[in-house]
Amino acid sequence: MSLPIPVLPAENELCNAICESADMLALLARRRSTKVVHFTAPGPSSEELDALIRLAARVPDHGKLGPWRFVAIEGDARVRAGEALASVLAKDNADQASLDKARETFLRAPVCVMVVSTAAAHPKIPEWEQQLSVGAVCFSLLLTAHAAGYGGCWLTGWPCYDARARGGLGLGAQERIAGFIHLGAPTERPTERVRADIGARISRF
Ligand SMILES: Cc1cc2nc3c(=O)[nH]c(=O)nc-3n(C[C@H](O)[C@H](O)[C@H](O)COP(=O)(O)O)c2cc1C
Repeated sequence: MSLPIPVLPAENELCNAICESADMLALLARRRSTKVVHFTAPGPSSEELDALIRLAARVPDHGKLGPWRFVAIEGDARVRAGEALASVLAKDNADQASLDKARETFLRAPVCVMVVSTAAAHPKIPEWEQQLSVGAVCFSLLLTAHAAGYGGCWLTGWPCYDARARGGLGLGAQERIAGFIHLGAPTERPTERVRADIGARISRF
């Protein structure tokens, strides 16, 4: 990462909230996820990652609940996290190929950020709105990583929907995994993919 991370404003500090930026528009126009098979080193260092997460977490958040938390899976922790998944499958007598695949889950990129949703019933803020904020934080982390020069990819998969896997990765009973955001250097430049027909999805009331 060659660019310095901007200093974040303190509470009540005047924000330069609107910032015309051709670079930002170009990033939005051309952004692509990196295929998980196309990652190599380097990924962000632990220090960089913390700074990227702080930037990315500045998302709309009704009620200022912060209904998300971030678990960095980097270095040797990638092996331990994969082992936690494999041990779940082993209890189901999974075949060797499935166990190997589970063990490699987090080895495919130098760094993975597990974005955990802590959204829960609240007297004022609907849980759905908290979930929307969690989705926003995942995308924000992708964009932040891209702006810092890293490739990123938002994946889910069976561990997100298996309570034993979630437990093995350290989640509480009410928590959910919004995504595994894999980060690193892309080995290939992606081409554009088929996009939803936006014309058919815009209307005027
Ligand atoms: C919540 C969520 C979960 C996803 N999980 C997967 C996944 O498990 N496997 C996969 O191949 N793509 C998954 N994707 C899609 C990729 O993240 C990505 O959007 C897509 O491959 C390329 O689109 P992009 O280049 O516009 O980002 C997921 C997307 C979202 C929003």
